[in-house]
Amino acid sequence: MKIAILKERRPHETRVAATPETVKKLKALGAEVTIEAGAGIAAAYTDQAYAEAGATIVPDAASAMAAGDIVFKIGRPMSGDEGVDELGLLRQGQTLMAPLGALNNKELVQALAAKGVTAFALELIPRITRAQSMDILSSQANLAGYKAVLTAANTFGRIFPQMMTPGGTLAPSRAFIMGVGVAGLQAIATARRLGAIVTATDVRPATKEQVQSLGGKFVAVEDEEFKAAETAGGYAKQMSPEYQARQAALVAEHIKMQDIVVTTALIPGRKAPVLVTEDMVKTMKPGSVIVDMAVEQGGNCPLSEFGKTVEKYGVKIVGPANLPGELATDASALFSRNLLNFITPMVDKETKALRIDTNDEVVKGTLVTQGGQIVHPSLTQS
Ligand code: NAI
Repeated sequence: MKIAILKERRPHETRVAATPETVKKLKALGAEVTIEAGAGIAAAYTDQAYAEAGATIVPDAASAMAAGDIVFKIGRPMSGDEGVDELGLLRQGQTLMAPLGALNNKELVQALAAKGVTAFALELIPRITRAQSMDILSSQANLAGYKAVLTAANTFGRIFPQMMTPGGTLAPSRAFIMGVGVAGLQAIATARRLGAIVTATDVRPATKEQVQSLGGKFVAVEDEEFKAAETAGGYAKQMSPEYQARQAALVAEHIKMQDIVVTTALIPGRKAPVLVTEDMVKTMKPGSVIVDMAVEQGGNCPLSEFGKTVEKYGVKIVGPANLPGELATDASALFSRNLLNFITPMVDKETKALRIDTNDEVVKGTLVTQGGQIVHPSLTQS
């Protein structure tokens, strides 16, 4: 088993798919690990640390790719049009383990199938108990939720906690978290730790208790549709236009009083729902801050711009390009461990080779291409 780790080349990417710690553990599983020089440097993992952990360092992406029959990545492979032709470097029979955004990037999946690459889309890891330690979406979203609140705090001209000083008392800030998944929960916890008054909303009823347990107040239209709004996989459902209108009216009233709004709402495989309209932004107080964590999937606020902070109607709207990447060391550490936990059950203890059991639930959930074909049910049934 030969594993290759490449330097990530997408703009704003600072993370790396293996750390010296996981290199050691991959070696203990029987793997040889090759790393492109400088792959971990933006995440503070030096070539020397990788070499000491037992990896072979090679000078460029082509030589790393050539040395591996399994490739680990954090970003989906780039095509020549996007910059460096990572896709072109992949070869038939190679196995790729990376987040691919497979449901939104069907052309990429087709290209991987055509090349004869066996590709696993890590964002599709099923949300089952056994796979929690492999769940890259959770590990990265958790860090992103934390960083989103720190970003909001740094952008805001006031403080979060109430502060009594000889010169007078400063009132606490009000933070509203929209979408209470993994990122939203961490955002609530972080904003609370900083001393803000926190409210939160979600379309999944299970989140109400979670918000309250973190010391936040839950704000949502709680009708019959809301009570039934959660898929078996624990994700949000697309809500009816009527529900969305009622919820929007409630949010519109609430948002006027907020200082900080962090939006995290996503529906897998779809464009992010618009939750903060331009009209709502107009009603917010000057100096308020919105951090739109869904900006990459189209944004929860139509005014947010990817990778930028814009000021509209006196409100600062942040559209972070890669929040986990701003915590590159920890984000890489968790991602790498997720990947290690993902591959470990697939390694045959006797032969030390990869043995892909297509009956396994985690394999079935993530394997998108094999034997020159697209094999994932979500991609073949359309
Ligand atoms: P996500 O990143 O897909 O979405 C973020 C949040 O936005 C979700 O809570 C969703 O309900 C909410 N949302 C979507 N549309 C909305 C709207 N119109 N208005 C307000 N909120 C809206 O979610 P994430 O963080 O991936 O978590 C989804 C679920 O999976 C959660 O229940 C989480 O606890 C669960 N989970 C389970 C795991 C396991 O059992 N292994 C591991 C990780 C998460």
